[in-house]
Amino acid sequence: MTDNDATPLATELMDLTRRREILREATAPLPPSTRIVALSNQKGGVGKTTTAVNIAAALAKLGARVLVIDLDPQGNASTALGVEHTAKVQGVYESIIGSVPLVDVVRQSPNNANLTCVPATINLAGAEIELVSAPARETRLKSAIEEYLATVEDKPHYIFIDCPPSLGLLTLNALTAANEVFVPIQAEYYALEGVTMLWDNIAMVQKFLNPRVSITGVLLTMYDPRTNLSREVADEVKRHFPNLVFRSVIPRSVRVSEAPSYQQTVIDYDLDSAGGIAYREAAIEFAERGVY
Ligand SMILES: Nc1ncnc2c1ncn2[C@@H]1O[C@H](COP(=O)(O)OP(=O)(O)O)[C@@H](O)[C@H]1O
Ligand SMILES: [Mg+2]
Repeated sequence: MTDNDATPLATELMDLTRRREILREATAPLPPSTRIVALSNQKGGVGKTTTAVNIAAALAKLGARVLVIDLDPQGNASTALGVEHTAKVQGVYESIIGSVPLVDVVRQSPNNANLTCVPATINLAGAEIELVSAPARETRLKSAIEEYLATVEDKPHYIFIDCPPSLGLLTLNALTAANEVFVPIQAEYYALEGVTMLWDNIAMVQKFLNPRVSITGVLLTMYDPRTNLSREVADEVKRHFPNLVFRSVIPRSVRVSEAPSYQQTVIDYDLDSAGGIAYREAAIEFAERGVY
């Protein structure tokens, strides 16, 4: 059978096999200094957390030391990384509100020796309000990370900050601490709605709080190649951000959505599934784009 008379399913399977083979040999360059990356988009459910944990896990599997800071009170990133985040656990809340050093709240992810996580517990839900009257309210996470990087010997190559779906003080702390913002965009109707607001916010942060932060990537998530809508949205996003959109596109995949219920990323749960392959490709693209 040649490619020409293959059914769409057979073509898709051949494509996955080919990409899986390429990934078997793949490597990713390590950055010369720690890349601090905020995953942000004020819309909920667009794939911020899924992207944070899966790119983190894929890079860790390729040999990078990776820290994920869960900054969403829901604690979904902590769950996916298999890190406990009940109210009795100390996490990012205690660090940014209580000034507990970050090094004391970093936990090992049981699934990968190179992967650590600062969990978010329900305590963090109050932080948005507590920060309002706190001194240095926008720079608390930045200070905690700086102190951490000055303390630890084996500095992480990557720190990913999983932001909550809002543009409040927690997200502001993430944008102030980061050098890069990575924006997952769901391939659905209204995908770009609100994105201008995120861009305006980042511009404000650049001006007043953190001149070195910039948007370094846009990733299309939950893409369904069978629908015209997904294709149209993808084209529109590419037109909008020609240099920022990643070549890698994350398909909608059941394996990706199942993984967190096993306290795993798709990289642990089903490495060679369509979603696992796409996130590993995105992780390599992420690593390559950051090394200039
Ligand atoms: N590629 C995907 N395929 C299928 N389901 C996905 C995919 N990416 C994310 N999801 C699911 O969509 C929901 C929202 O994703 P999530 O990463 O939590 O978004 P956010 O952090 O932006 O709120 C979750 O239930 C997640 O499991
Ligand atoms: Mg999330």
